[in-house]
Amino acid sequence: MTHIDQYLKDNADRFEEQLCDFLRIPSISADPAHKPDMLQAAQWVESQLRHMDLTTEIIPTAGHPLVYAESPEVPGAPTVLVYGHYDVQPVEPLELWITPPFEPARRDGNLVARGATDDKGQVLTHILGAQSVLAADGRLPVRLKYLIEGEEEVGSASLETFLATNAARVACDCVVISDGCKFSREIPAINYGLRGIAYFEIRVQGPNRDLHSGSFGGSVTNPATTLARILAAIVDRRGKVLIPGFYDDVLPLSERERRQFAALPFDEAQYFADIGVTGATGEEGYTTLERRWARPTFDVCGIWGGYQGEGAKTVLPAKAGAKFSFRLVPNQSPAKIAAALKQWLPDVTPPGVTVELIEFHGAPGVIVPLDSPYVEAAARAVEHAFGRSPVYSREGGSIPIVTTFYETLKADVLLLGWGQDDDNTHSPNEKFSLVDFHRGIKASARLLQELGQIHKG
Ligand code: BES
Ligand code: ZN
Repeated sequence: MTHIDQYLKDNADRFEEQLCDFLRIPSISADPAHKPDMLQAAQWVESQLRHMDLTTEIIPTAGHPLVYAESPEVPGAPTVLVYGHYDVQPVEPLELWITPPFEPARRDGNLVARGATDDKGQVLTHILGAQSVLAADGRLPVRLKYLIEGEEEVGSASLETFLATNAARVACDCVVISDGCKFSREIPAINYGLRGIAYFEIRVQGPNRDLHSGSFGGSVTNPATTLARILAAIVDRRGKVLIPGFYDDVLPLSERERRQFAALPFDEAQYFADIGVTGATGEEGYTTLERRWARPTFDVCGIWGGYQGEGAKTVLPAKAGAKFSFRLVPNQSPAKIAAALKQWLPDVTPPGVTVELIEFHGAPGVIVPLDSPYVEAAARAVEHAFGRSPVYSREGGSIPIVTTFYETLKADVLLLGWGQDDDNTHSPNEKFSLVDFHRGIKASARLLQELGQIHKG
């Protein structure tokens, strides 16, 4: 057994306990009530890094603090930036959690808690991986930098601001990110693409108060009906978004990439069975993987208005609203999509209501190149830890800052997800496989050793 393997084995229980400690901190970035927890989570991350051969800093921002750490230069070896996030998504609906979201529980080989896979468990693999190399080899084989933020789940605005003036400080040869999924339970993946996002809230206001739906119905524009009409007008039955200009900049799928997607061992029936549906609709002319990874989409994320209580209440609601997003593909600009939406809204707004649009975060989609020695090193490390060589795939989710890493820092980006599609990310009973947690640590340690072999002049 190698030194590293021995170390991983001897420390496996401690690693799990550390993850549990991290998961107990309710660091929900979207909820201002959790501001103190955000600082606590940042401090927790910083304290893990401080015990290694790193200088660390908690950097305050207009939003949630950044954790930054770096080790000394290793002559001739690359500089590697580990990026991740300590913030988590809200936990509602709380009643659907089998155990409370911030009391990590072991079930069926998983650790169940908000943030288990997204992203605390995955971030921690890259802290413990480096710790393991340091303990076993007595030194870090590369210069390491860590940048762990608290606003990924709300759009990464403060990190964006920080990088605008601190690019030199975080300069690196490659960025390592584990904030995604394997291809399937047994098949690891290296991702080379992420979708972008443009997120909005719409508020439809009608009369100055709720009205009797018998006395007034038919003579007054109904805000809830209007909202439904507007949302339904955004996309047609063939899954095409109808906002003028929406597809103008879309990077089309090449025939080669379509063939590559089609050759992946994707079990569509299982994909649908897992989520309890028997079929689906989507953009006509595209396969499920193409729809998920490489085509832009529209989704309503939340919708409200009118009476929601027991029984029936005959009321014409004064207002209604919804939250919705477009997932974008490379070349589409979130700002352009927002402008197109704003311009189009008056066309679908009838007399008798006013429509207000609130813009939330936006991020462009990204594709990163695979022909790099860093990707080859990552493939070897993943194979070493997961026992199978990775497939190359894209992801439907978004990590807003990746475009900046790639375009501004000009760094290679390694997207190595250790999660699974059925991890309940952003929903109740989020989980992370403990086997994959340990494999992730092992892969991270091996990756650093592999990257240390790459000679930088
Ligand atoms: N870990 C996800 C991104 C992700 C999801 C990658 C699925 C691969 C597969 C990340 O934490 C996330 O949820 N990002 C948000 C960003 C948004 C709030 C700007 C997302 O995609 O909704
Ligand atoms: Zn997330």
